[in-house]
Amino acid sequence: MSEQEVLYEVADGIATITINRPTKYNALNNTVRSALTDFFKKAEKDDAVRVVILTGAGEKAFAAGADITGFPGIDSKKVRPAALQGQELSVYIESMSKPVIAAVNGFALGGGCELAMACDIRYASANARFGQPEILLGIIPGYGGTVRLPRLVGLGMAKELVYTGDQIKADEALRIGLVNKVFDSIEALHEGTKELATKLVGKPGVALKLAKQSLNNAWQQTLTDNLAFELDSFCQTFDTEDKEEGVAAFLEKRKAEFKHK
Ligand code: COA
Repeated sequence: MSEQEVLYEVADGIATITINRPTKYNALNNTVRSALTDFFKKAEKDDAVRVVILTGAGEKAFAAGADITGFPGIDSKKVRPAALQGQELSVYIESMSKPVIAAVNGFALGGGCELAMACDIRYASANARFGQPEILLGIIPGYGGTVRLPRLVGLGMAKELVYTGDQIKADEALRIGLVNKVFDSIEALHEGTKELATKLVGKPGVALKLAKQSLNNAWQQTLTDNLAFELDSFCQTFDTEDKEEGVAAFLEKRKAEFKHK
């Protein structure tokens, strides 16, 4: 029986989704994209899951992009469903109600970089390498890279990366805002990611969901729409049990026990 190409594990409110094709640098084929979609949906539906971590197996790669072995002889008509599946996966990750953290250990290239960018927060190990090398194959990013990269790092930097196909190291990714934090080793990366995820598990779920939606909206709509959504969401949190508990805990100088209601 062949080994599972994506792994799923839940512990202490955290679902960890691991792309598991280490000998192929976790390249994204149809099976991997479908399994990722299924597991993110599973995590979204499971009330026991409050935070999701996405990572890659092994020490070489988070994901080195779409599986290029499937490209020869493929024309625009044939490639569209695969690209759409990648885009839809990225939108699902970005818009699901729970925070998603990418733990980037090694290469995050092409679709790998694009999946990481769809996550809410990116942590990386010092050996991480980021890039959109599609131009070197005569193609362009197809899982949202041309849309999300400029939003994260600015238009000029995004153009340089997409036009050249160059890889950047973790410290440069940190400098331009592509990652939030860099760790010395892969072990430290996984430890630091778990620490952040555990911190978020303890936060009120309704408020987290609305904060994520409101922050995402800041990218997508006009200032007036965004402010209106933020106002509605802010007011909505005042109808939750968690808000009463959070405020009471502060005033009573104790730790809040959130119920995510
Ligand atoms: N698709 C399919 N296979 C891939 C892959 C991809 N995107 N990226 C890496 N692999 C495979 C290699 O073919 C190789 O498999 P093999 O041992 O069976 O030959 C294995 O992963 C290791 O890659 P290799 O190139 O030998 O390692 P390296 O350390 O010399 O280089 C990379 C690593 C990531 C720089 C290089 O593999 C690369 O450029 N990959 C393609 C990145 C890319 O263009 N992504 C966007 C695709 S649209």
